[in-house]
Parts: sequence; C-alpha cells; structure tokens
Amino acid sequence: MKLKKQEIKPFDYDEVDIHVNYRKSRVLSETTPRLWLSAISKFAAVESTELIVDLGSGTGRFLEPLRSWFDASVIGIEPSANMSSEAVKEDLIDDVQIVRGRAENIPLVENSIDLVFISMAIHHFRDRPQAYREIRRILNAGKFLAIRTPTHETLNNLEWFKCFPSGLQVDIDRMLPKDDLIKEVCNSGLEFVHHTTIKQLTANTYREFFNNLSLRAVSALKQIPDEEFESGLKQFQRYCEKIGWETPFYESFDLFIFGKREQ
Ligand SMILES: C[S@@+](CC[C@H](N)C(=O)[O-])C[C@H]1O[C@@H](n2cnc3c(N)ncnc32)[C@H](O)[C@@H]1O
Repeated sequence: MKLKKQEIKPFDYDEVDIHVNYRKSRVLSETTPRLWLSAISKFAAVESTELIVDLGSGTGRFLEPLRSWFDASVIGIEPSANMSSEAVKEDLIDDVQIVRGRAENIPLVENSIDLVFISMAIHHFRDRPQAYREIRRILNAGKFLAIRTPTHETLNNLEWFKCFPSGLQVDIDRMLPKDDLIKEVCNSGLEFVHHTTIKQLTANTYREFFNNLSLRAVSALKQIPDEEFESGLKQFQRYCEKIGWETPFYESFDLFIFGKREQ
C-alpha cells in the first residue's frame, strides 16, 4: 500500500538497529571522499575553510575526510545516540567532535561556520525550511552549504532500487526533484551556486555491494515489509549475475553548493 506523503512518519534512527551495520555496509570506497571533497573545494577554498559542520553526521564516516582534506576543525551534529555511538574513536581525535542536535535548532552561534556539509540526510529533516534558515544563521558571510543527496533524477537511475519498488517510492516521496530542491533552499535566503552529479565507485564489485545491501542499512529498505525486501534481494541477485559479480559498482548522486551572500 502506498502511503500518502503526510502519513509518512519521520524515520528515527534510535528506534531501529540500522546503526549496527551502517558503518560496515555504507563504507566509503577509497576514491569517494576525494571525489566529493575536491568538487566542494572548488567553491569552499581549502585555505579559507577553518571550521566545518557535518550536519546529520551519522556514524561519522565523513568527519575525518573533511578534517584532513580541509585541514580544518569539524563538528558533527547528530540527533541519534545510536548513530553517534558508532563513530570510531580514532576519528574523534584532534579537531573533530560530535554534538547532539538537530538541523532545525543547531546548537552553534551565528556567523561562525565556513562550510556546512550534509550527506544523505536532508530527507530526514522534519522541517527543511527551518533547517536551511538555521544553516544560513550559523554560516559566515560569503561561505557555503554543500549538499550530497539523491534527487528524483538520480534516484530513478539507481538500478538496484528498481528491485525494491516500494522502497524507491519511500525515497521519491521524501526527496525532491533537483529544481524543487534549489527553490526550497533559495527560499531560506541562501543563494544557488552550483549543481552537478557525481559518479562514485560505491563498491569495488557488485558482489561487495550486494553483500552490503543484504545488511539492510538503508532507511527506505527498513520501511518495507520483510517479504518485499527478501524478494527484491533475490531479483537484484539475478541482476548481479547478469552484469557479472566482479564488475565495479558505481552510483551517481547530486552535489549542490549554496552560498551565504557577502554582507
Ligand atoms: C542516512 S544517515 C547519513 C549519515 C551521514 N551523513 C553519512 O553520510 O553517512 C542520515 C542521518 O541524518 C540524521 N538526522 C535525522 N534527522 C535529522 C535532523 N533533523 N537533523 C540532523 N540530522 C538528522 C539521522 O539521525 C542519521 O544519522
């Protein structure tokens, strides 16, 4: 049964066990952080980016890459105790910390941050316009918001997701087409700077991706019936056999850059 948008309950990472396998199954390939961070630093220059917020930092998989790429201090803001508890201690050394909080009420002072980075999280925010106003408040003038996310356009190109039609529908309902996302953020007073799609090596092989997917650490797949998950997995298995288990596995997602106007 397809739920109407207003009936979709926000997904709470503290009510499920997704955190247990998240880090393992959503591990970033060696080239992935560099791809995204080099694209972001074409706008947020490394030399002038000293303090970064990773909003909805989850298990912290981007914290250390952000710190080392920008040689900056990084604050992860994360509401879920489960997800932050999985952040590896070695990642939380010098210049990296995680603070409990939500995008709609960021526990930081105004005009203090050089870059807000959000990966795979805006679809979980309960009040996105309020979140974007908060981001604008904490950003220094002339600095940037970078959003790494699927949109309707990139979601519809994910071959594996077609095997889980109601899971795909969950994400379609809570995510936006590219142009609507740009409008939504600009309505908060931020300025649109750039959009691109980035093709990343998500897993070295289809086999690796299949094994990761079978751990079900994807929120949309937690929201469909177990039988549908199992039959989708079987369908995807046949797809992997057809493509070849050892074939490298790529996905494309959107990168948006917005700026806070110079005063
Ligand atoms: C799919 S995970 C992504 C985590 C991380 N950014 C990454 O790419 O691995 C989404 C995260 O957004 C967090 N989240 C949910 N609602 C949020 C909110 N209102 N403000 C900030 N983060 C939120 C969740 O708790 C979860 O850790």
